[in-house]
Amino acid sequence: MKDLFQVIEERRAVKVFDPDEKISKEELTDILELAGKAPSAWNLQHWHFYVFHDQEAKDKLFKLAYNQTQIRDAAATIAILGDKEANKNYEPVFAPLVEAGALSAEIYNALAGQIDGAYQREGYPLVAAHHNAGLAAMQLMLIAQAKGWDTCPIGGFDHEGFVKEFNVPERYVPIMIIPVGKKLNPGRPSPRLEINKLTTWI
Ligand SMILES: Cc1cc2nc3c(=O)[nH]c(=O)nc-3n(C[C@H](O)[C@H](O)[C@H](O)COP(=O)(O)O)c2cc1C
Repeated sequence: MKDLFQVIEERRAVKVFDPDEKISKEELTDILELAGKAPSAWNLQHWHFYVFHDQEAKDKLFKLAYNQTQIRDAAATIAILGDKEANKNYEPVFAPLVEAGALSAEIYNALAGQIDGAYQREGYPLVAAHHNAGLAAMQLMLIAQAKGWDTCPIGGFDHEGFVKEFNVPERYVPIMIIPVGKKLNPGRPSPRLEINKLTTWI
């Protein structure tokens, strides 16, 4: 089992995947379940995963992503969508806690009020969809790496075309595509800036 530090050091945006490598539905489901343990505001879980597993599905996505071969050649490609109506998840997430006696009705109602207030603010639903789904995307890459798979975060695709091609409901917004497979080549070198150039100590 790899530790977290090793996983972080090893993860790279892989550009060349082995097209002969396969991944099972069970393995993908396990990765998605663990990615879904990412934190989210009020635990509303503002993500939805579209899984492109067979070759025909991956080929459709490949064309919408400017022919980036990672999508075509990876064992599977997962699109992470953000949920602009994640406030609708409140009841299914929290009502069972009230029923189980783990949350008082008073706190349940107070949280519902906070969430309603936030979702009435202009711009909030889209911003929340983006940053919460981004956390699940990062976690997905680390989980996949820990399980011996490689990934590549991809933002370069036709977002409008994606919505049309896959009949994405208005509720969801495409955030990122992540091919999951086995690398044939390591990712390109990706040096980081000195941390003190990116840090302000207050
Ligand atoms: C939001 C986002 C969008 C990206 N889009 C693409 C892309 O369209 N194609 C690609 O090959 N890599 C893409 N990348 C990968 C980055 O180029 C890569 O993560 C960066 O160079 C750092 O390299 P590393 O991930 O190997 O450390 C994207 C990364 C992020 C986080």
